Amino acid sequence: MTAQQQPAQQQPAQQQPAQQQPLSVGIHDIAIATGHHVLELDDLAERLGVDPAKYHVGIGQDAFSVPAPDEDIVTMGAAAAKEVIDRHGVEGIRTVLFATESGVDQSKAAGVYVHGLLGLPQNVRVVELKQACYGGTAAVQLALGIIARAPHERVLVIAADVARYDVDTAAEPTQGAGAAAILVSADPDLVEIEPAAGVFTADVDDFWRPNDRSTALVDGRLSVSAYVDAFVGAWDDLAAQGGPAYEDIVRFVHHQPFTKMALKAHRKLTQHVGVPFDESELATGFTYNRQTGNTYTASLWIGLAALLDLDDDLGGERIALFSYGSGSVGELVTGIVRPDYRDHRRQGRVGALLAARVPLSVDAYRELHASGAATSVDVERPRVTAAPYRFVGVRGGARHYEATGQD
Ligand code: COA
Repeated sequence: MTAQQQPAQQQPAQQQPAQQQPLSVGIHDIAIATGHHVLELDDLAERLGVDPAKYHVGIGQDAFSVPAPDEDIVTMGAAAAKEVIDRHGVEGIRTVLFATESGVDQSKAAGVYVHGLLGLPQNVRVVELKQACYGGTAAVQLALGIIARAPHERVLVIAADVARYDVDTAAEPTQGAGAAAILVSADPDLVEIEPAAGVFTADVDDFWRPNDRSTALVDGRLSVSAYVDAFVGAWDDLAAQGGPAYEDIVRFVHHQPFTKMALKAHRKLTQHVGVPFDESELATGFTYNRQTGNTYTASLWIGLAALLDLDDDLGGERIALFSYGSGSVGELVTGIVRPDYRDHRRQGRVGALLAARVPLSVDAYRELHASGAATSVDVERPRVTAAPYRFVGVRGGARHYEATGQD
């Protein structure tokens, strides 16, 4: 006889299984890093003879970060991860997941370099994940699963990218660079992620990067419609999985290849659901991405960092996070912001990082762009970055990194 067939009254009271509280898992901390330089889109507009309003209003971007010659996804990812480790230590970290679209090696995971630079314990698994800009969210989902099975562990997720398109293309103003390090744990300080998720996959050629290219190819118009389809499709799937009503979500944060993309998609969702759309509700989550430009896998998480840093009224409220990776995969998750999240955020930190970037002229940016491709040819990189780690160069075909001694 199975347990289900057993009449309830035959079970002695003392043998009834204790009511278990569902495990709370989610985002314990987030740290952000970005490139050493910045290109103001006003300067690019002047060079290209474009009305600057096309960038500020039409695509919703103000500037983009440009890595120094001795920076890449590893140095930015390590800088963000260092902040997290400095705050929380390494105890319980047995998994490092590195998500990127702009990997520096076809075999070795970028996270292994970070593991070495940060001096993480040897009993750690490290792996790299890829699906365009979606990889960071896939990594967080995997991390949540690991924690659900081993609540005493913590998972370090790193999402880092350099968004590179060819110069003199429509996509040039939507480049960028940045990283997010996310510590996933039980009983998190910032956001508890709810179990239901809406997912959506469709085979679309809207953005891709063949193995022989260091710049992405993109069909911008198609990427808008593919993103909208994935957002609405993920919403419908979330509803089918028992997700919350639209009215029960106070804020949405989206993947932001350019912030206007998120606005367009959100307008479509509100039409689909049949609710009014107030553009201003998305503005806070755009604050940092308008400055960094597209950061691919890190973009959604930089948006979340902005929301948590700059909105004071989220305690106990439900937020939604939409991730999109061209090609294409979308995922929509929801989370409850912890009542005391304001005690754990590091307000001002990202603003200071963005303000400290060194401006580039258009000529200087284009020179750096031309030398930005990953290479196996031996080269020494000049010392430029003010970040904690730098890319020394390529020796014997292998990439080398070092600590700079700066915080
Ligand atoms: N003032 C205000 N808005 C202006 C303007 C001006 N002077 N001039 C143009 N605009 C608006 C246009 O009306 C348009 O808005 P709309 O889309 O709401 O109609 C917007 O600016 C863009 O102009 P448009 O000429 O249509 O686009 P573009 O050919 O310059 O390309 C992108 C813009 C975003 C499509 C292009 O930069 C791109 O492909 N970027 C990459 C996108 C990407 O990464 N996708 C993959 C990840 S999802």
